[in-house]
Amino acid sequence: MSVSEKEVEAIVRQILGQLGGTPAAENAAAKQYSGSASVNCSSGAVMPKTAHVAVLVEKERFEVKEYPIPPVGDDDILVRVEGCGVCGTDAHEFKRDPFGLIPVALGHEGTGEIVQMGKNVKKDSAGKDLHVGDKVVTCMIFHDDPEITMFDLNKQNVGGADVYGLLPDDEVHLNGWFSDYIFIRKGSTVFNVSDLDLDSRILIEPAAVLVHAVERAKTTGILKFNSRVCVQGCGPIGLLCIAVLRTMGIEHITAVDGNAQRLAFAGRLGAEQTVNFGDYQGIEALTKAVYDSFGGHLADFAFQCTGNPKAHANIYKFIRNGGGLCELGFFVNGGDATINPHFDLCSKEINLVGSWVYTLRDYGTTFDFLRRAKAIGLPVTELITHRFPLAQINEALQTNLSMKGLKIAIVN
Ligand SMILES: NC(=O)c1ccc[n+]([C@@H]2O[C@H](COP(=O)([O-])OP(=O)(O)OC[C@H]3O[C@@H](n4cnc5c(N)ncnc54)[C@H](O)[C@@H]3O)[C@@H](O)[C@H]2O)c1
Ligand SMILES: [Zn+2]
Repeated sequence: MSVSEKEVEAIVRQILGQLGGTPAAENAAAKQYSGSASVNCSSGAVMPKTAHVAVLVEKERFEVKEYPIPPVGDDDILVRVEGCGVCGTDAHEFKRDPFGLIPVALGHEGTGEIVQMGKNVKKDSAGKDLHVGDKVVTCMIFHDDPEITMFDLNKQNVGGADVYGLLPDDEVHLNGWFSDYIFIRKGSTVFNVSDLDLDSRILIEPAAVLVHAVERAKTTGILKFNSRVCVQGCGPIGLLCIAVLRTMGIEHITAVDGNAQRLAFAGRLGAEQTVNFGDYQGIEALTKAVYDSFGGHLADFAFQCTGNPKAHANIYKFIRNGGGLCELGFFVNGGDATINPHFDLCSKEINLVGSWVYTLRDYGTTFDFLRRAKAIGLPVTELITHRFPLAQINEALQTNLSMKGLKIAIVN
């Protein structure tokens, strides 16, 4: 940063002073102001002097605020935001502020185009060249330790320079992807993903969760090309799980959910069979349906992709003796599950792995997954069912909370 905090504060005050007191007046005047202010950026394109940032100012209320775009230092990157997915984490923060971040600029599943960058910025975190005009994403994980997981990160300071969309507000303000410009600072994890379309780029972050889960599953040595795999839960996480498995060549996939529409989409993403638990009374009948779906076999491997403890308890029944299970459905505490350790785990010799978020290495694999999924015709980007402009950020979050659709995105 080449401008001091005080200077930026003074500029912000001056602008806000010009804009008037009430939020409504601020927004109306902000639009007027941005129209009249422009400078040339390093690419020669005309750029506004200010950015619009959706700031969560209180629970369940974003305000789109206008801030000056700080001068881009030698190590900084200024990105024009094209879109950003709404994550469950954003919804948690919107509803309850569990991280105590308000006021905060949210949005971490974002992507956009570099419009300006400092002279020291040459490569992305994977060593790929970076130029003005390239499309990029950031990643929550620190670039200097590619093996670090979210689990390790939690023991450190999670609010590091990388976690755009969860950073506390500061003098830069352009800290989240629910905005029209984001200011990427030195030391951030950033990837050049220019070859991916906008919708695929918006899905990178959630897809990385599944790439990681499959990597965890592979450590059991059980997941093979010809494995029979059960995926329980067909929200965005389970559906992406099916797409990752199908893209890597696994064909015998049975999806389990209670929602017929989601199960139909699971079929289009690569599930060979679907089981609607609403059609069966009791765990024996449901287990029989899964068994029948594999032509008279239990699953070799299962992925648990619901946040329902009952579903965790159920899934052991669907797995053969000596089979494997990856539990990834509990990003947050969903309560306790009751299993019978003798029948469900020991005597079946189940190989159980847990999975949480991803490592930096999973990001590269995720880009490959999205390219390959598109190449084999999987409609992965149809996961984005709702698109809202930035001005309708509150509606977007409410849509997410009301469980309508699958992936909700802000698209500029
Ligand atoms: N491991 C991670 O890093 C990670 C990352 C993100 C999300 N998650 C977790 O993954 C879970 C799924 O996320 P999502 O966005 O797909 O959620 P979602 O709520 O959209 O989907 C869950 C699906 O599970 C189905 N379901 C509920 N109970 C079921 C049951 N008993 N049997 C079968 N299906 C059942 C629902 O009908 C729904 O379609 C969430 O609980 C989330 O916390 C984990
Ligand atoms: Zn997320």
